[in-house]
Amino acid sequence: MRHAGRDLRSSRAGRRSNGELADRGVIVAELDDTMDSGQTSRTFYAALGASALAGRTSDEKTRWVLQDLEPLLQKEKRWLDVGCGYGRLAVPLASRGYQVTGIDISPNLIGAARAYAREQRASPAFDVGDMRELPYPSGSFGGIYCLWAAFNELTTRKDQRLAIRSMLRVLESGGSAFLDLATYREASAVRIDRRTRRVRMEVSGLTHQAYLHDRQTLVRLMEDCGVDDYSVRLKAFGGRQRLLLTFARSEGRVARRRPPVRPPPR
Ligand SMILES: C[S@@+](CC[C@H](N)C(=O)[O-])C[C@H]1O[C@@H](n2cnc3c(N)ncnc32)[C@H](O)[C@@H]1O
Repeated sequence: MRHAGRDLRSSRAGRRSNGELADRGVIVAELDDTMDSGQTSRTFYAALGASALAGRTSDEKTRWVLQDLEPLLQKEKRWLDVGCGYGRLAVPLASRGYQVTGIDISPNLIGAARAYAREQRASPAFDVGDMRELPYPSGSFGGIYCLWAAFNELTTRKDQRLAIRSMLRVLESGGSAFLDLATYREASAVRIDRRTRRVRMEVSGLTHQAYLHDRQTLVRLMEDCGVDDYSVRLKAFGGRQRLLLTFARSEGRVARRRPPVRPPPR
């Protein structure tokens, strides 16, 4: 993709372009485990820039993702693209007649998404915001999708629960969410701490972090959030092997806490 955020520059790199920053191998997003995951993502994408993010995929790969995603969407519903980035999916979907709102924690990527939408004469709405606290009234959307491992960027179980509960709240009754998560099996330059499930990656000379999910972590997350209508599958999506989580908001089941376990009466 050549369109997104052509002129975006790293917040820390002064007048250097992101490309130059990456070539110099400067690690600008130093991480520490106590850093808020939202702050980590914002810092990382501000340094990486929209063009470099777009350079990590291709038009062909985006077409494959759209081919697999579109059959899951209906035009009469309102869709929320959570962690929408530079509008890679929201813009073409809006051009095809879907009602899409994209939200992302990185202001520079939302700037690039708006520019991309203008260029394509498409009209999705874009907001800067956090998936842990979605700024929409309850029941605003018929469905949610959250792709390209945006959910993996939540590195604590608490953040993950907040995000799932927030998605449940903004879904209308019967609405569903679809998340595609990375397995990190093919990724290079990745270090995984098996105890904390923290994944550290070198991307264009920057350090980024994520959370390694598997079937068990997602099942537990669904149970913790009181969701009983869900599925977890390891499956090809958009041309690569992904962990796919789908869950639905069924009335009366939102953000239900698991009842405390009591010993059986004697
Ligand atoms: C790899 S990009 C994927 C972008 C987009 N989903 C796509 O498929 O092109 C991951 C995105 O997740 C966003 N993100 C990370 N944490 C977030 C949070 N707490 N709330 C909203 N967006 C978040 C990042 O800013 C980034 O744009």
